[in-house]
Amino acid sequence: MKEIKGATALVTGASRGIGVHIAKALAQRGVNVALAARSETELEATRDAVAALGVRAAAIPADVAIAAERNALIERVESEIGPVDILVNNAGIESSMAYTNFSEQAVEQMIAVNFTAALLLTRAVLPGMLARRRGHVVNIASGLGKMALPYLSVYSATKFGLVGATQALRAEYRGTSVGFSVVCPGFVRNDGLYARHEAEGAAAPRIAGRATPERVAKAVIRAIEHDRPEIIVNSQPMRPLLLMLTAFPSLHAPLLRTVGLTRWGERAAAASADAHQGEAMLQGSASQPSIKV
Ligand SMILES: NC(=O)c1ccc[n+]([C@@H]2O[C@H](COP(=O)([O-])OP(=O)(O)OC[C@H]3O[C@@H](n4cnc5c(N)ncnc54)[C@H](OP(=O)(O)O)[C@@H]3O)[C@@H](O)[C@H]2O)c1
Repeated sequence: MKEIKGATALVTGASRGIGVHIAKALAQRGVNVALAARSETELEATRDAVAALGVRAAAIPADVAIAAERNALIERVESEIGPVDILVNNAGIESSMAYTNFSEQAVEQMIAVNFTAALLLTRAVLPGMLARRRGHVVNIASGLGKMALPYLSVYSATKFGLVGATQALRAEYRGTSVGFSVVCPGFVRNDGLYARHEAEGAAAPRIAGRATPERVAKAVIRAIEHDRPEIIVNSQPMRPLLLMLTAFPSLHAPLLRTVGLTRWGERAAAASADAHQGEAMLQGSASQPSIKV
């Protein structure tokens, strides 16, 4: 979509973190924005910030992992702002843990939020985009959708899934006026889930590079306006490394260990376990850890 001014976008995961930056960047381009997430108060704060940029904005509380809420969300966007021209599947949860410690429910929930919701929201808005000959879907994956990390097996799997789905849809709808892009941020500083890892004392090795939420938001705009298939947002060049790992997959595990990413995964999992234990103690329960969002 070369001209996005006046279009309607739906951004999921817009109550905090990267989603807020994406919503504001779209608004700065004159796009009307519907914002979805579960936390109503935070969502309303994003709506006010977006509306202050001079566009129409709607805060629509929804759990994207629940089919009825997804359907109601699309209906409300259409009735309050208009048909969805731009869908940004940004809502995501991440949990670092040794794989055998994941509960069945935690695995299913991460797949539901990060992957299934993105596919099904796309399925809901795509027929309208095709009929109107105008639309773009941006999936926010991750650098971990290009290079998986230990202790983040489920998260990495959902992000690889998003990369694959975007590629397939892009090829399938080539020649229509609907585009598909995937944006893969590296470790994002200052805001969002990785920034919380840093705050818990689990900083990733510098060699892995960093991104900022502002750069991720700019990448989303570039992806839409220039119909880019895939943008990796990272301060370090990733493509040569990814090419090498594609050619020599047996290098993956030793390389991660050498650069300290395996150790980082262990530390993030340990910090996360400590945080869950603290939460459980505060709630007076030592039962299953809740899913980290
Ligand atoms: N931060 C990074 O370093 C980084 C790196 C690569 C990729 N990413 C990806 O970027 C995206 C945004 O991450 P972030 O760092 O901004 O995370 P964040 O600060 O934890 O924000 C996640 C957002 O997703 C929403 N969300 C979670 N579960 C939801 C559900 N069931 N239904 C609706 N909304 C839900 C949250 O809102 P509620 O809790 O209010 O529902 C929140 O708005 C994610 O897809 C993440 O995987 C982040």
